[in-house]
Amino acid sequence: MRVNNKVALVTGSSRGIGRAIAMELARQGAHVAINCASRIVEAEEVKQEIEAMGRRAVIVQGNVADPGFVDGMAKEITASLGKVDILVNNAGITRDNLILRMKEEDWDAVMQVNLKGAFLCAKKFSRQMLKARWGRIINISSVVGIIGNPGQANYCAAKAGLLGMTKSLARELGSRNITVNAVAPGFIATEMTAQLSQEKEREMLKQVPANRLGTPEDVASIVSFLASEGAGYINGQVLAVDGGMSM
Ligand code: NAI
Repeated sequence: MRVNNKVALVTGSSRGIGRAIAMELARQGAHVAINCASRIVEAEEVKQEIEAMGRRAVIVQGNVADPGFVDGMAKEITASLGKVDILVNNAGITRDNLILRMKEEDWDAVMQVNLKGAFLCAKKFSRQMLKARWGRIINISSVVGIIGNPGQANYCAAKAGLLGMTKSLARELGSRNITVNAVAPGFIATEMTAQLSQEKEREMLKQVPANRLGTPEDVASIVSFLASEGAGYINGQVLAVDGGMSM
């Protein structure tokens, strides 16, 4: 197993990509802290499935963009699972619109959750990793943070920001056996992309050489590799999991 007995926190892991990452890390031997903003019933299901694999799991519901919540979450996880070895910053939202129609609050909301939330969690949990002299931080960015997308100026800016943060932290923490990498998924079938019209989906698929949508599991297997001992010399990288879309 790739991450046996490590403790992982996956933000936004009640559904979609985060859920698949939480499940795969558990399959590979990790105990998992499950975080979500709402719909705790789904998080309960993830917890049960992880426990059925013989791992420990805890749910911490709340907003990763709230520093008070992140403090409390760290205390709760430390009390129940011990220190966090693997942090996956996955929680994310969209508030799409063309620039002329994008409201300031839509810009702020996406920055808060997608970028500030990752900063707050990295700040909080890197302290434990520094002490342990071992850690993995994996930030879930997006291919549109690399290539851009009309109607998503806020989302693309936040996802591009994550890439800058990833590389800076990789340089800051690298000497302590902590790696910081980003995964940039392409077009993955989840609730987030289910909002798109069939026409938009067909249009996007034209840009994907693999000619199919990705699955949450396509992303999860790469994240579990980056979390493993075997990926210890990969640092500050951005791995696109996009069927060839962004090349
Ligand atoms: P989703 O909408 O299915 O799930 C989002 C998860 O994040 C849920 O568990 C939700 O409770 C949680 N969440 C939302 N706001 C939160 C907050 N403030 N605090 C804590 N948790 C919060 O999304 P999906 O598609 O699974 O996306 C996961 C990540 O992957 C996101 O960061 C997204 O931007 C990124 N991504 C998704 C792609 C796709 O095609 N679905 C493509 C590229 C990146």
